[in-house]
Amino acid sequence: MEDNTADTVEDVQMVDPQENEKIIPFVEKFRPKTLDEIISHDEIIDTIKNFIKSDRIPHLLFHGPPGTGKTSCMLAIAKLLHGENYKKMVLELNASDDRGIGTVRDKIKAFSGTSTFFTKGIKLVILDECDNVTNAAQAALRRIIEMNSTTTRFCLICNNVAKVIPAIQSRCTKFRFSPLKDEFISKRLDEICESEEIDIDQKAKDAIVKLAKGDMRKVLNILESGSLAHSKITSDDIYNCTGKPSEKEILMILKSLCKDNFSDSLNTVLKIKNASGLTLDDILNDLHERVLKSKFEEKHKKILTIKLAEIQERTSIGCSEYLQISSLVGAFIEVRA
Ligand SMILES: Nc1ncnc2c1ncn2[C@@H]1O[C@H](COP(=O)(O)OP(=O)(O)OP(=O)(O)O)[C@@H](O)[C@H]1O
Ligand SMILES: [Mg+2]
Repeated sequence: MEDNTADTVEDVQMVDPQENEKIIPFVEKFRPKTLDEIISHDEIIDTIKNFIKSDRIPHLLFHGPPGTGKTSCMLAIAKLLHGENYKKMVLELNASDDRGIGTVRDKIKAFSGTSTFFTKGIKLVILDECDNVTNAAQAALRRIIEMNSTTTRFCLICNNVAKVIPAIQSRCTKFRFSPLKDEFISKRLDEICESEEIDIDQKAKDAIVKLAKGDMRKVLNILESGSLAHSKITSDDIYNCTGKPSEKEILMILKSLCKDNFSDSLNTVLKIKNASGLTLDDILNDLHERVLKSKFEEKHKKILTIKLAEIQERTSIGCSEYLQISSLVGAFIEVRA
């Protein structure tokens, strides 16, 4: 029988480590490895460092919107505490994969129940996306947390804290990870562009920060797709590759809604929407922002906001998009009258 093993091993060894680096997506390549690399959450990081320094780590519950550093922060804590013994002392579970009572009972119980003679310190169970764990499993977890408190700390992570039962919340110290501040994102973006030698102008960077709305994962993903598609990235490239309306497009739409007659305005909105493949939902969100900043009288802003919200609701439940765009044009014409 032919033996292919040697070939395969040689092939693996021949892979250039620098080539390998290119394959790693930006979100993993630029994931903070230490607590000091986590941006925009200084108070949380300081408090956690104090817990670690005084060797009094409580059960933790990190919550907040996506891409704000919850998982990265928890992994950095686990690495700081257990470095070489990470595999023995840390159990990482993602509740999106396994969210039933079986996981809670079996995996966690087995891990926190075993004693470790040769390693010092407290064991960690990281339960990511725990808002996906069923209520029955959370109820079981409550007891497991109490039974194993002497040997194990539980680190729960979720987006929606309201889905975590109050009994679990009260057993943990809660930290809210809010959307990252634009100034910190901009600074980090500058550093990444420099280290990756990405040719990108300032307007494009500003567009990325604006579109990301405090989500660093979004920043990295937009930057990566932009840099793969263009050798020099401009703000138009960013809007094109994300399919989001540019400032120029929204201003053109707004100008037409405020000046043109019904059919011209309808045609303009349809033309811009179809040419750039925009969704009506994105147009409505940006128009809303623009209307609030505009010189419309307060009472007109109120009427337009209500109409935009109604159109967005009807769009979200699947009503005809053409009809909703007509309704949008009608709303502006009514206010103008
Ligand atoms: N505060 C931060 N400082 C530096 N980088 C960050 C920060 N937050 C997020 N990132 C970047 O965004 C990526 C995603 O972060 P992470 O997985 O920690 O987010 P998360 O809060 O766990 O999101 P989700 O709720 O979707 O799981 C990381 O790889 C990292 O590069
Ligand atoms: Mg996460």
